[in-house]
Amino acid sequence: MPIKFPFVKKRKNEVSSHHPVGLNHKQIPKHVAIIMDGNGRWAKNRGMPRIAGHKEGMEVVKKIVRFASDLGVEVLTLYAFSTENWKRPRNEVEFLMKLPVDFLNTYLPELIEKNVRVQTIGDFDVLPPHTKKAVQEAIERTKDNDGLILNFALNYGSRFEMVNAVKQIAAKVERGELDTEEIDEALFSSELYTCDLVEPDLLIRTSGEQRLSNFLLWQLAYAEFWFTEVYWPDFTENHFEKALYDYQNRKRRYGGV
Ligand code: FPP
Repeated sequence: MPIKFPFVKKRKNEVSSHHPVGLNHKQIPKHVAIIMDGNGRWAKNRGMPRIAGHKEGMEVVKKIVRFASDLGVEVLTLYAFSTENWKRPRNEVEFLMKLPVDFLNTYLPELIEKNVRVQTIGDFDVLPPHTKKAVQEAIERTKDNDGLILNFALNYGSRFEMVNAVKQIAAKVERGELDTEEIDEALFSSELYTCDLVEPDLLIRTSGEQRLSNFLLWQLAYAEFWFTEVYWPDFTENHFEKALYDYQNRKRRYGGV
């Protein structure tokens, strides 16, 4: 009689590693953006403190960076800390600010080896000195790499970013460097943190929430969205592959027919 494991319940959207989804390697999205949500709930379900979920989430970041780099994704933007996350308890904020330091301490040599280039978007100046130092070092040491761009959204808020863009543009008009008539979508985009990046093709959000939470509101105008119930610490290469597979089977019309 075959042995059954009825207690191993398959989660919605869980993909078995025994069923490769048949990706088209010529149609890998150039830019994938991820809202890595559900760390806190993952930890709570295990009777662990929330920060344990973030720590586990960091391990998943490593796996997904490796995988995205191997698949030939050009830009991977990860929402690591939002401008709203300062409202969290102090110990959690401190832990989240320490994560990039730990991540880069253990993982920077591999990033360099894999030709990954580290960048950030967000209001960098107000981050704690130790966070800034570790991230600046990673940016500096990977700046000549031309593989995957690993773009951390750190203290990022899309509305703040857009208000800043408006201020920059207004200042140029005031100084007489720009005519109001010259303001167009391309000019606006050029004042955003993401000015040097291709727009995201695919947005992934884990944990069952289906909202943008002030993430890349302008840049995601034509992106495909992919949601999963899986909490970020449980997210695997298989889920990522399934997201790309579904993306490849969407029809992107950009408002046309
Ligand atoms: C959202 O989950 C997650 C965050 C605010 C932090 C995400 C950070 C990581 C996954 C680690 C980042 C790693 C590096 C290298 C910077 P939540 O805490 O809101 O979860 P909940 O909704 O279940 O409470």
